[in-house]
Amino acid sequence: MPNHIFIDKKIIPYNKKIKVSSDKSLSIRTILLASQAVGISKISNLLESEDVLNALKTIKKLGIKYKKKKNFYEIHGFGLNGFNPKNNLVINAGNSGTLGRLILSLLIKTNKKIKLIGDKSLSKRDFSRIVKPLKLFGANIESTKNSLPVKIQGTRFIRPIKFVEHIGSAQIKTACCFAALNAPGTTFIEARKSRNHTELLFKHLKIPIKVKSNKEFDFIEVKGLQQYNAFNYSIPGDISSSAFFIVLTLLSKNSKIIIKNVNINETRIGLIKILKMMNCNIILKNKRFYKGEYNADIFVKSSKILKPINCPSSLNSSAIDEFLLIFLVAATKTKGISTFKNLGELNKKESPRLDLAIKFLKMIGIKVKRNKDDIKIYGKPQLDLKGNYHIKNFLKDHRIFMMSCIAALTLGGNWKINDKDSINTSFPKFLNILKNLGANIN
Ligand code: S3P
Repeated sequence: MPNHIFIDKKIIPYNKKIKVSSDKSLSIRTILLASQAVGISKISNLLESEDVLNALKTIKKLGIKYKKKKNFYEIHGFGLNGFNPKNNLVINAGNSGTLGRLILSLLIKTNKKIKLIGDKSLSKRDFSRIVKPLKLFGANIESTKNSLPVKIQGTRFIRPIKFVEHIGSAQIKTACCFAALNAPGTTFIEARKSRNHTELLFKHLKIPIKVKSNKEFDFIEVKGLQQYNAFNYSIPGDISSSAFFIVLTLLSKNSKIIIKNVNINETRIGLIKILKMMNCNIILKNKRFYKGEYNADIFVKSSKILKPINCPSSLNSSAIDEFLLIFLVAATKTKGISTFKNLGELNKKESPRLDLAIKFLKMIGIKVKRNKDDIKIYGKPQLDLKGNYHIKNFLKDHRIFMMSCIAALTLGGNWKINDKDSINTSFPKFLNILKNLGANIN
């Protein structure tokens, strides 16, 4: 089977209701937290993508049993530090930065030698951001190049820490919260705001956590060595996967979409806030509270020409995985100049996304000016492409593949997009949903 697709027709108008895949952050977090709980947890609607299946494989290698039932997974936890792996175990986190970074934080007390590896993209990503705080906890970690492979051998001599997380990375913050579970006493984390699923799950599971906040930072205290019980959880839809269909609809003509049951946690909906500032028609309806989080249905209609944006960088973290799409909207639907600042973290993702986004926009004829981590995009509304476009060499970054499909289906031109398999990491049903909306993809 070829691993590329062709798109040479814009999508025709549609009016549909869809469900997207379940949330990846919540899927990985609930698996890892269930592995440390006492008893059998049941997680339904788990995202069955490679990153999440790698999380399941990982806990299995670490001695935790799980079973797939009809619509849920049962995970048999033995409590905190309940892993029981064989010595010299190799764990492969595949493409997932979240899994790689979070699992390391749960191994600081596991008394065996474990080596963590990842795929080509993950092996290029920074692990020193996680190794540094974990070493402060007392973790025994060997790493040579600030990246994978990393070797860890658990130790009994773990202590709580005081740590300032200044990047706004939920992975670093969560790794500190997870490590704190195994530290005697109280760990203090001052974290620049980022997605807060971990803190909400801790509260829901009655793990002792206190959070105070100001505009920019969260001040978190976690009391360690407190066992917690197994739990049931049903994972809602992923806002980051919904984002592709929100933007597809905005950029298409005379179309409407309803996306059912999506997690709309305030720390994840930067895309919606930014698009609304640009005058988009997006409504969140039927909001409901579920185990510490809010879920809702998202209603979107096609858009006329939009306002350019001077994007407040305070929204960066809550839209961190959606900037490729936000740039596409700014580039092709607005008249004027949009500015985005402090986006250095985008280059630390599955691929150097800031560099590749600029290359992509220039390829479709958009003027972009860059000054270090800030960019200016000169909007060209109603761009109608006619040429041939080949998307390749993007380190199989799933979000670049999917964004390219949205561009191809709304802007015209003949597109060949490589590395179709990349979607398996986060959203295996992406192309099927597009086809059900009427997209012509070969
Ligand atoms: C994630 C946090 C973000 C995000 C990633 C998932 C998480 O990364 O980009 O896709 O689940 O914690 P950073 O925490 O490095 O910003």
